[in-house]
Amino acid sequence: MGNRLEGKVAAITGASSGFGAAMARRFVEEGCKVVLGDIQEGPGKALADELGDVAVFRVCNVTKEDDVAALVDLADSHFGKLDIMVNNAGIVGAVGPIDTTPANEWQATVDILLNGVFYGMKHAARVMKPRKTGAIISLASTAGILGGLGPHCYTACKHAVVGLTKGVGAELCRHGIRVNAIAPAGMATAMVANVMTGDPNAIEEAKKGLAKTSPLLNRAGTAEDVANAALWLASDESGYTHGHVLTTDAGTTTGSTAGDPAFAEYEPMFREAGKKGI
Ligand SMILES: NC(=O)c1ccc[n+]([C@@H]2O[C@H](COP(=O)([O-])OP(=O)(O)OC[C@H]3O[C@@H](n4cnc5c(N)ncnc54)[C@H](O)[C@@H]3O)[C@@H](O)[C@H]2O)c1
Repeated sequence: MGNRLEGKVAAITGASSGFGAAMARRFVEEGCKVVLGDIQEGPGKALADELGDVAVFRVCNVTKEDDVAALVDLADSHFGKLDIMVNNAGIVGAVGPIDTTPANEWQATVDILLNGVFYGMKHAARVMKPRKTGAIISLASTAGILGGLGPHCYTACKHAVVGLTKGVGAELCRHGIRVNAIAPAGMATAMVANVMTGDPNAIEEAKKGLAKTSPLLNRAGTAEDVANAALWLASDESGYTHGHVLTTDAGTTTGSTAGDPAFAEYEPMFREAGKKGI
């Protein structure tokens, strides 16, 4: 238990699972009150019950602007204000080659991954602007920084989340509102477990698989890693950080890979250069 978010109120979308649930727990540990939104009612309510009076759950489908507006308003009506908005809800969405991707699946994916973030930013700004304070955090991805790390629509939407973070950040800084994003690599949550094993509950199995391909020796990324990044961006400790995309990717976007042969053993390349014509 700490006090890094003492007195603050956060709204989190996609809070019934994975990163959202981990953030809810971590934020509450640090003194925050949380408003949780998700389309999965059972686990969302159970999490709010577990957290007690400092948490409240509401069904919220981020593809519906009214639902997102109502989640933000619930923070105001139940806890008196909104300090932190986390636009986290997401899915993998439309997959497959570009020439066979069905347009309706593409559109449905954009509705969640991009429009949902737009609604979150819009309504958070509505209540934060008059108070001249706030922190908005959105979930991008390493697929929002590089190509080839996810399906096309996912990649496009996560790049758009990075763009929206910077564009909206450029507007809202003069209102005292900080806007940042988090870009995780593949982390052990239900979403990735489902992709890796076909079973969203196989988190431990996903962790083992991710540890093998992680640039950080035998270390898989977890929901708690992302929750800790969100905690910092939500807290006043990051008070001068704005428009930033914080990776939790073990260096994947630096080009780090698991076991890089280029750094294996010293070889006298320089001495040999003349002979080999390098
Ligand atoms: N897990 C990863 O490796 C990873 C990496 C990069 C980015 N992300 C992003 O992080 C976010 C959270 O992912 P996660 O790994 O925790 O996944 P998860 O599947 O564990 O949780 C996602 C939550 O979003 C909810 N959700 C889905 N559609 C929704 C909708 N229309 N409205 C409201 N809620 C909805 C789900 O019910 C679920 O509870 C997503 O935006 C995802 O794209 C995940």
